[in-house]
Amino acid sequence: MSNKTSGLYDALKEYSESGAYPFHMPGHKRNLYPGLPYDIDITEINGFDDLHNAEGILKSTSEKMQKLFRSEHSYMLINGSTCGILAAITAVTNYGDEIIIARNCHRSVYNACKLNDLDVHFIFPAQDQHTGIADSITPESVEQAVKQYPNSKAIVITSPTYEGVISDIRSISEIVHRCGIVLITDNAHGAHQHFCGFCRAGEPIENGSDIVISSLHKTLPSLTQTAAAHLNSQFVNRKRFEKQLAVFQTSSPSYVLMASIDKCMDILSDSKELFSQYEENLNKFSADAKQLEKLHILCMGSDSPQKHPFFAFDIGKIVICTENTNINGSQLMQILRSKYSIETEMAYTDHVLAMTSVCDTTNAFDYLMNALKEIDDTLILLPDKKKYSELPKPHRSSYKPAYLDSLPNAPIYENGNLVNRQYIYAYPPGVPIIIPGELFDDNIREYIQHLKDTGIKVIYD
Ligand SMILES: Cc1ncc(COP(=O)(O)O)c(C=O)c1O
Repeated sequence: MSNKTSGLYDALKEYSESGAYPFHMPGHKRNLYPGLPYDIDITEINGFDDLHNAEGILKSTSEKMQKLFRSEHSYMLINGSTCGILAAITAVTNYGDEIIIARNCHRSVYNACKLNDLDVHFIFPAQDQHTGIADSITPESVEQAVKQYPNSKAIVITSPTYEGVISDIRSISEIVHRCGIVLITDNAHGAHQHFCGFCRAGEPIENGSDIVISSLHKTLPSLTQTAAAHLNSQFVNRKRFEKQLAVFQTSSPSYVLMASIDKCMDILSDSKELFSQYEENLNKFSADAKQLEKLHILCMGSDSPQKHPFFAFDIGKIVICTENTNINGSQLMQILRSKYSIETEMAYTDHVLAMTSVCDTTNAFDYLMNALKEIDDTLILLPDKKKYSELPKPHRSSYKPAYLDSLPNAPIYENGNLVNRQYIYAYPPGVPIIIPGELFDDNIREYIQHLKDTGIKVIYD
């Protein structure tokens, strides 16, 4: 057979050999196993079990997960957290039910609400004054929402967020359980939480969340698309959940992906040293961050979680802020890429997110810090720089996505106001800035224009 490789494979190999350092997903940081694993890419042949009715070798991987994460039931996901979120929401609601979601939920949550024709009520997190990122979801806001919408079947919140903000899951689960409402935690960015002393506060499995969906690939050494669903609940019908997993997961699950989950569990089962080294690296990075004079790092260096209204914060998410300097987030990302061959996870108006994991070496942390110090020396402070980081305030507290989605896409005038008909979001992070039915006013227009002007990709869906 010809040895000729595809353009994509060649491009990936070339990039992989370029020496660019990945401060982005996936968490394995490309330093575990080389090459494309054709030799272990099989289908569900004799002896290799069936993901959707696991009884053998795949069941034992799920059991390893259960034991490690101390859940009642754990499931391998090979279509990302996305399929787990779709399955979870579909399993705990009936067509047309009410649901409460945090307004900063990922688009997969919005899609699940649309597919199930749900009546959506929002909880609005406050915004961090400096970065504009969403604060924790407070127990008080949850208490108020369940009082206002007692017929809701479930509540969905993201913890930690893309940027590392953690919510008080223990208090939130106690509130919702008193009302018989199911708590689904989008823990896509928190698969490592269980193993990290520095961000274990609010870990959702041990703090009472009924369903927890975690992307293994984002923060742990596991291949892209791998994730886990954990069930710990008297309120959720397990069989119904399993049925929905079979709807939203492929019927040809990749053994390569499942093997990477199994390997990840083996790494986790003996990972104390890995995680303590990781914590040491982050603490040193934080101490070094005190030397930065113009850039600053969220909750690191001279900043701390206590200065923000966060319940807790995951410092594994390095949020480098350009506020009050003469560059924006996209420009910082570009300098890191072109001058230092450092690829970061994402840039926003005035910050850059560098994602880290146990697979980052001490040298890599030092290299990033030295690059930041050099860049810092070249910057000018602009104390009066206009802040655009604050999201315009949304206008709706409830909406019906399936109905709104059936309408034409173009904004329309209602009572003299321009009403939006699309989901408009910056990608990443994939959280809608404005949803169908909200007013498309001058603040939104200016904010979206500013995103575009600063090089951020804006998607109209
Ligand atoms: C908060 C959040 N939830 C869910 C997802 C979906 O995760 P996955 O890419 O594993 O499907 C993402 C992806 O970025 C995310 O940021």
